[in-house]
Amino acid sequence: MLQHQQKFTMAFLGLVVLLLLTFASPTSSCTEKEQSSLLDFLAQLSPGSDSSLKMSWVHGADCCTWEGVTCRDDNMVMGVSLASKGLTGSISPSLGNLTGLMNLNLSHNSLHGNLPIELVLHNSIVILDVSFNHLAGPLKELQPLNPNLPLQVLNISSNFFTGQFPSTIWSAMKNLIALNASNNSFTGQIPASICISSPSFSVLDLCYNKFCGNIPPELGNCTTLRLLKAGHNDLSGALPHELFSATSLEHLSFPNNGLQGVFDGSQVVKLNNLMVLDLGSNGISGKIPNSIGQLRKLEELHLDNNLMYGEMPSTLDNCSNLRYINLRNNSFAGDLSKVNFTLLDLRIADFSLNYFTGRIPESIYSCSNLIALRLAYNNFHGQLSSRIGNLRFLSFLSLTNNSLSNVINVIQVLKSCKNLNTLIMGSNFNGETIPQNEGIDGFESLRVLTIDACPLVGKIPLWLSNLTKLEMLDLSNNHLTGQIPSWINNLQLLFYLDISNNSLAGDIPIALMNMPMIQSKRNAARLDPKFLELPVYWTPTRQYRMLNAFPILLYLGNNRFTGSIPPEIGQLKMLNALNFSSNNLSGEIPWQISNLKSLQLLDLSNNQLTGELPSALSDLHFLSIFNVSNNELEGPIPTGAQFDTFLNSSYGGNPNLCGFVLSHCISASRHETSTSREHRLHLAVIFGLVFGGLAALALLACFLIAKLVYDDHTENLVLLQRR
Ligand SMILES: *[C@@H]1O[C@H](CO)[C@@H](O)[C@H](O)[C@H]1NC(C)=O
Ligand SMILES: *[C@@H]1O[C@H](CO)[C@@H](O)[C@H](O)[C@H]1NC(C)=O
Ligand SMILES: *[C@@H]1O[C@H](CO)[C@@H](O)[C@H](O)[C@H]1NC(C)=O
Ligand SMILES: *[C@@H]1O[C@H](CO)[C@@H](O)[C@H](O)[C@H]1NC(C)=O
Ligand SMILES: *[C@@H]1O[C@H](CO)[C@@H](O)[C@H](O)[C@H]1NC(C)=O
Ligand SMILES: *[C@@H]1O[C@H](CO)[C@@H](O)[C@H](O)[C@H]1NC(C)=O
Ligand SMILES: *[C@@H]1O[C@H](CO)[C@@H](O)[C@H](O)[C@H]1NC(C)=O
Ligand SMILES: *[C@@H]1O[C@H](CO)[C@@H](O)[C@H](O)[C@H]1NC(C)=O
Ligand SMILES: *[C@@H]1O[C@H](CO)[C@@H](O)[C@H](O)[C@H]1NC(C)=O
Ligand SMILES: *[C@@H]1O[C@H](CO)[C@@H](O)[C@H](O)[C@H]1NC(C)=O
Ligand SMILES: *[C@@H]1O[C@H](CO)[C@@H](O)[C@H](O)[C@H]1NC(C)=O
Ligand SMILES: *[C@@H]1O[C@H](CO)[C@@H](O)[C@H](O)[C@H]1NC(C)=O
Repeated sequence: MLQHQQKFTMAFLGLVVLLLLTFASPTSSCTEKEQSSLLDFLAQLSPGSDSSLKMSWVHGADCCTWEGVTCRDDNMVMGVSLASKGLTGSISPSLGNLTGLMNLNLSHNSLHGNLPIELVLHNSIVILDVSFNHLAGPLKELQPLNPNLPLQVLNISSNFFTGQFPSTIWSAMKNLIALNASNNSFTGQIPASICISSPSFSVLDLCYNKFCGNIPPELGNCTTLRLLKAGHNDLSGALPHELFSATSLEHLSFPNNGLQGVFDGSQVVKLNNLMVLDLGSNGISGKIPNSIGQLRKLEELHLDNNLMYGEMPSTLDNCSNLRYINLRNNSFAGDLSKVNFTLLDLRIADFSLNYFTGRIPESIYSCSNLIALRLAYNNFHGQLSSRIGNLRFLSFLSLTNNSLSNVINVIQVLKSCKNLNTLIMGSNFNGETIPQNEGIDGFESLRVLTIDACPLVGKIPLWLSNLTKLEMLDLSNNHLTGQIPSWINNLQLLFYLDISNNSLAGDIPIALMNMPMIQSKRNAARLDPKFLELPVYWTPTRQYRMLNAFPILLYLGNNRFTGSIPPEIGQLKMLNALNFSSNNLSGEIPWQISNLKSLQLLDLSNNQLTGELPSALSDLHFLSIFNVSNNELEGPIPTGAQFDTFLNSSYGGNPNLCGFVLSHCISASRHETSTSREHRLHLAVIFGLVFGGLAALALLACFLIAKLVYDDHTENLVLLQRR
């Protein structure tokens, strides 16, 4: 009996195995209908699309074996994953006919047209990802037939969708967990009903759109919401207090909107799961409440560019997971050294542009993982502690515009910070002497050093020649004396040198004409393209995260340099800005300057330069600021291109210079008849208008591009006018 039963079981198992084998064998395949739905999709792609797809997706072959297609055991198509396949063309609604499709991933292609609504309202799709395409148009507002759609993840981010965000379709999205609609152009209000029907809704990303109006209080009913991001929109009003009922929130961020109202500590503490709070660049006021210490999980706190005030609560120390705190540009005040920052995870801290006073808090030196610290534009006084050497990872330190003292000490204590790459500390150390001591080593990673506007006295010190990684050096607006040292070209990576407005004297050394980084593009490629930990500010509002976005410049103006401009200047082919103004330079302007084809600013004003302006200067097609006023130049002004756009003020104070722009040019009438002069004037006016218009357009375009990408050397027209 038992034996019999065993035999039966064996036979049954055999049958099952046989059946399974038959199902898995290549003879069975997807249905004709599914195959044609997929082929319809393929047909709507552009001919330029990925050719491997065309080779794999052939009529007649089992579509379950096609590239990117996965099937269930019963050969129903279950997944279509074609991310990053270079697909162009539009998405065919025929995919909606795949009745077993659960996962459709078409992200990172160049698909355009609409998103077929059939796919959003599909009866089996669970995950739909069409992010990073060129899809456009509004999403249809449509009451779904099926009141219980299976969709869980919808990623339509980084496309060109427009219009109001549909509100009706969410009522049927009972299973939705994550919705990413960021980086589109959606308008109107954030849909209020979005999580009313989905009990598990947890991720909502609406950043980088054009949503406006108030934050809907209904979001407070999203009890499972973990992430809510709606930065970079046009939202207004206060944070609704209902929102603080969504206590599952871990990430709440609304940066770059027009939010107002008071930061309400009694509300915020309800969100005790919060890890990231970002309210930067709004109009929020109020203080940081003591209760902030109850947000034990907080890792990032961004309150920069708001209207907040008051002292830092000492309870901040309780946020022991804090990694990033940004309070830049508010009106916070009080003695910061009273606050205990024993925050071992702290990486980045920005307290700049506030009214903090006192010494630099001693406890900050215990934050042993600190990478970037910005204390600039406050009222700190005193000295840096040698304990700063404990901060092994410190790579960015900005102390500008405080009342710190003892620059020698600062240099001594910081030289051992092996990772320090940016040290910005101008407008401190009033009247001190720049440390001259020999034997300063260290700073082996330093890329940016600014000690401007202190003013410091003394010579340009020799130890700077040891900073072989230095790319930017700003010692301007001090009272430095002596000469430009001949070792200057030891600084093989230096491309930005500003020593203007000092009392430096002597000749312009030939060594300066041998700066490798300013000579050729090939050398410039050696620069480290890494992002800085915090942006460096050129002006208080203009920021750069990459050093190679800064212009290549030599600013030597407002000193006591004598002698002539070396003709070797023609070697500095990468230069964007050259300012030798207000010195005692004499001799002729070397024609080799016209080799500096990237030049946008050339200022040689207020010297004793003689001779004629080299006519080849008109080859400098990017020149937008030109000044040779107050010299002893003579002869004709170059004509053509940029030179038809400069005004009188570029040339004034050179009685013997002549050209149509100078109304009182005597020699011009000697050389030209009045009719030819008028003719030239006409041409020049027309050219000026046309060129001026083009230049203005170009400038605008440049400005817009510059706002997006920070790594363009040629866009610095506006920014070169900093001083
Ligand atoms: C979907 O299938 C139906 C019938 O099965 C057919 O009429 C329709 O044309 C198909 N749609 C697409 C877009 O292939
Ligand atoms: C879609 O595919 C891309 C690339 O493989 C992947 O990064 C992304 O996470 C996928 N989307 C979903 C929702 O899984
Ligand atoms: C789209 O968003 C979903 C949900 O947030 C995510 O899982 C997926 O990785 C995203 N896709 C891409 C390409 O980043
Ligand atoms: C949403 O998509 C964007 C890219 O389009 C991505 O950067 C972002 O991290 C995504 N958000 C979430 C929450 O996954
Ligand atoms: C925004 O979308 C565009 C177009 O898809 C894409 O090129 C860009 O990288 C996206 N930006 C972000 C921050 O994801
Ligand atoms: C939240 O839900 C409750 C009932 O579930 C409802 O009474 C209340 O009006 C909702 N609040 C908002 C702001 O939608
Ligand atoms: C901070 O932590 C200390 C000790 O862990 C505790 O006594 C105090 O109540 C906490 N303060 C806040 C505001 O959480
Ligand atoms: C400071 O923030 C305000 C907005 O609150 C902004 O208008 C201003 O430009 C910011 N200033 C700087 C220097 O960033
Ligand atoms: C700062 O916090 C540390 C660790 O919690 C503690 O040892 C130290 O005494 C505190 N210092 C002050 C001044 O409160
Ligand atoms: C820098 O500090 C001085 C006072 O020491 C102040 O007059 C000046 O306005 C500050 N500069 C900026 C840009 O805030
Ligand atoms: C440069 O650094 C070396 C050690 O690397 C040191 O011996 C030397 O004194 C330093 N030179 C100057 C001028 O500080
Ligand atoms: C030159 O530097 C001095 C000292 O820092 C400063 O007072 C003066 O304003 C500066 N001049 C110019 C034109 O920047």
